[in-house]
Amino acid sequence: MRRGLAAVLFASLASCSAIDEGGDVHPARSEVLPMGSAVLVALPDGTIVVEDDGRLLQYDPRAADAEPTVVGPATDIGEVHAAVPMDGAILVLASGGTFILREDAWIPSPLADALDGPIVDALLLPSPTGRGQGDLWIATASSLYRVVDGVAERLTLDESLADAQLAPARRPEGPALWVRLADRVLEIWRDRSGVIRTAALILEGAPDAIGGDADGNGWVVLGGRLHSIGADRRLVDRGVEVARLLTSPLSHEVWVIDAAGASWLHADGTLFHAPDVTVDPTQVLAVAADGSLYASGASIVRYAPRRYARVRGAPDGSLLVTPQTFDIEVEGSPTIEATIDGEAVAVAADPNRVELDPVALGEGSHELVVRVVYDDGTLPVTDRRAFEVITNATWTEDVQPLYDAHCAACHGPEGSAVTRLGTREEWQTRIEVILQNVDQGRMPLGRAPLSRREVALIQAWQVGGFDE
Ligand code: HEC
Repeated sequence: MRRGLAAVLFASLASCSAIDEGGDVHPARSEVLPMGSAVLVALPDGTIVVEDDGRLLQYDPRAADAEPTVVGPATDIGEVHAAVPMDGAILVLASGGTFILREDAWIPSPLADALDGPIVDALLLPSPTGRGQGDLWIATASSLYRVVDGVAERLTLDESLADAQLAPARRPEGPALWVRLADRVLEIWRDRSGVIRTAALILEGAPDAIGGDADGNGWVVLGGRLHSIGADRRLVDRGVEVARLLTSPLSHEVWVIDAAGASWLHADGTLFHAPDVTVDPTQVLAVAADGSLYASGASIVRYAPRRYARVRGAPDGSLLVTPQTFDIEVEGSPTIEATIDGEAVAVAADPNRVELDPVALGEGSHELVVRVVYDDGTLPVTDRRAFEVITNATWTEDVQPLYDAHCAACHGPEGSAVTRLGTREEWQTRIEVILQNVDQGRMPLGRAPLSRREVALIQAWQVGGFDE
């Protein structure tokens, strides 16, 4: 399919200058694999794929004592441009072809055959709604492709893409793509009706490199200097001469190796100097989704800006009815702080946890924020859980209407089922069995299961004491 690009608009970005005062950061350094191996790509799931002695190994550097898995022989993969999760597998787009990594096997993917030449760069843009697979963009020397449902759609551009670089960007309409050409940057996005539009970004001179992070910041190396473009779309000179810019659309952190060989880390809106990170800009380097920098040299070294910390318990976006425990997994004994809607809450120890009583919090939306601070110079880890508390459900307002709509046909006076469920008392007596049945989707029999909210309402009615 061929498709031209719609309207071309022009946007000019004004430049201003700012040098951050982030101070020093000391990422945790660990040797991941011994001599002779080179990191090819940091995958979205946190594992890395390395080439070692003619083999491809997949390895989880975060798991202590993990053994690398051999996923295949080292073929001519070339430079890896993107690794994107797709249908339970990972699609790897490289200059040497396209590959699929599924269940410990690394196999060539036919996608490369649909392209008119080797991949110059590739990128997965998040979907505008945040749900489902985003748009996969691939540049070859002469074409730009958008891969939709596994089909590569070619967009015609009048100029060479031989040296093109792709980066994620953000517009008010949603995610956008940046394409760095010889003399300018093209911005490509879908408007509200889905039509593809482009604009040329006018920068003072041709950018040496571009990148984009998971926070939607754009990064441009202009005249050798690092510039960022945030949500206000202002170009800010960050005061660093760049030898290498390392971004990933999955990582909130950005790494920069400057012209003097010093390393910089952009995290939490600030540029930090990382004095103990000593890498050479010509080394094979990769940024992982967690912000870690992998450097291949005499051995593979991982620099993790943050240590491990994770909140377990009800996932983000949950509906809460009953008391909940959020366990906080950490390494060693860092300081742990937690807030609910901005107010401090107690963190209990052994195991580290926050206990919440939805009834005490009250109906509505709440946010739990857990902050874990290590005193070794790594950055604090922040984990957020947004959830909604449901309380005060009543028989007449909430449960009876559910019964009428979803159960009465069978469990009412005329219904075929043996169990009668027409009254508040009948529900109260059988509440445990009812909750089990609706939660597991067995009831309503042969029909669409109740929504999470409907099940939560029944549960809230029970917790609240079966109000009339
Ligand atoms: C299409 C008919 C149908 C619908 C609709 C239906 N049920 Fe049932 N249900 C049955 C049948 C048939 C049985 C098995 C006979 C019995 O126990 O009454 C059953 C059994 C049950 C039982 C007893 C299970 C047990 O293990 O003892 C419960 C509780 C129940 N249903 C709850 C519900 C609730 C709550 C709804 C509505 C959200 C619902 N059902 C909707 C047909 C239905």
